[in-house]
Amino acid sequence: MPDERAAALAALAVEIEACRACPLGSQRTQSVPGEGSPNAELLLVGEAPGAHEDAAGRPFVGAAGKLLDLLLNLIGLQRPQVYVLNVVKCRPPENRDPEPTEIAACAGFLERQLALLQPVIIAPLGRHALRAFAPEAKISETHGAPFQGETRQTPAGTTLFPLYHPAAALHNGALRPTLERDMGALARALPAARSTWRVARGGAGEASLSEIEAAAERDQLRLFESEAQ
Ligand code: URA
Repeated sequence: MPDERAAALAALAVEIEACRACPLGSQRTQSVPGEGSPNAELLLVGEAPGAHEDAAGRPFVGAAGKLLDLLLNLIGLQRPQVYVLNVVKCRPPENRDPEPTEIAACAGFLERQLALLQPVIIAPLGRHALRAFAPEAKISETHGAPFQGETRQTPAGTTLFPLYHPAAALHNGALRPTLERDMGALARALPAARSTWRVARGGAGEASLSEIEAAAERDQLRLFESEAQ
């Protein structure tokens, strides 16, 4: 199953590269589908690729990515052990915030990635990524702890653990100790999150094929709808 999951993620990356459902698809250099271990327990979700990511086709390769690596190292993790992706897969020009229509055009890809990865913890990085999972939540109030409110898109048994975006700590150095503390809290939350995940998965721990196919079908529908508009 891990090989099947890796193959399905790779096939999805090909679809993402071919996607022109919103204008970003024709403006960017390369799509940035995401990367990491297909079996990662921890999924980090950013907002959208920047200039470095657009050039490399890989997420978090610029200054924010370097800080992300340091933060992961603090809790004994290396990038290849986790999975990193963005809510929006193509770079918005001038690094502007993605438009709601662009987020909506990409939503099916995120949904299918989540169905395949089924991580123990999803850490949305910053307020824009958090909005994809908990639209009403504020990052300033929810960072550094398992999110307790209602979430959408979060697979059954997965714990949502909001973190500040590393770029925020680069702009405002005072946030860096907070982010470091929050990473420690995430590591401490992992055992309980693992138990919740195992109970919810009933020991299976894999996305069923029908779950993945259903997500793919919904995605096709969304694409047709956005093409028809
Ligand atoms: N910021 C993001 O949100 N994602 C990236 O991939 C890089 C910077």
